[in-house]
Amino acid sequence: MTKLDWIRIKANYELVIDNLLDLSHTSYLHDGLLGNQDMVDAEITVEQVGDAVVVGRRSMNSTIPGLFAIQMPGHPRVDKWNTIRWTAPGNLLLRSGVHEPAPTPRPAPDITASIS
Ligand SMILES: [Fe+2]
Repeated sequence: MTKLDWIRIKANYELVIDNLLDLSHTSYLHDGLLGNQDMVDAEITVEQVGDAVVVGRRSMNSTIPGLFAIQMPGHPRVDKWNTIRWTAPGNLLLRSGVHEPAPTPRPAPDITASIS
């Protein structure tokens, strides 16, 4: 399922960029909803792709966070991935997903490509 949307935030855009490029905060500030303690030690990747910075987080065989449990009931444990692409000064594209735990990580969607 893909949902494209936008959110208007009454804050300095640099704070939003700081927040979203470090999604480790989901384990603490959104505990149980978007993340949890199983995801504190997620694998993190950071790369520059053209003019963009792309940050990825992947957690393997973790307790499913509440928001994802609504979309995927009956799956207490999942592999979860987040990928966020920042193109300065203020364009952010966040993609998140879960799937059943796999013996080897499945590739996250290619966020370096345009939205499809
Ligand atoms: Fe947040």
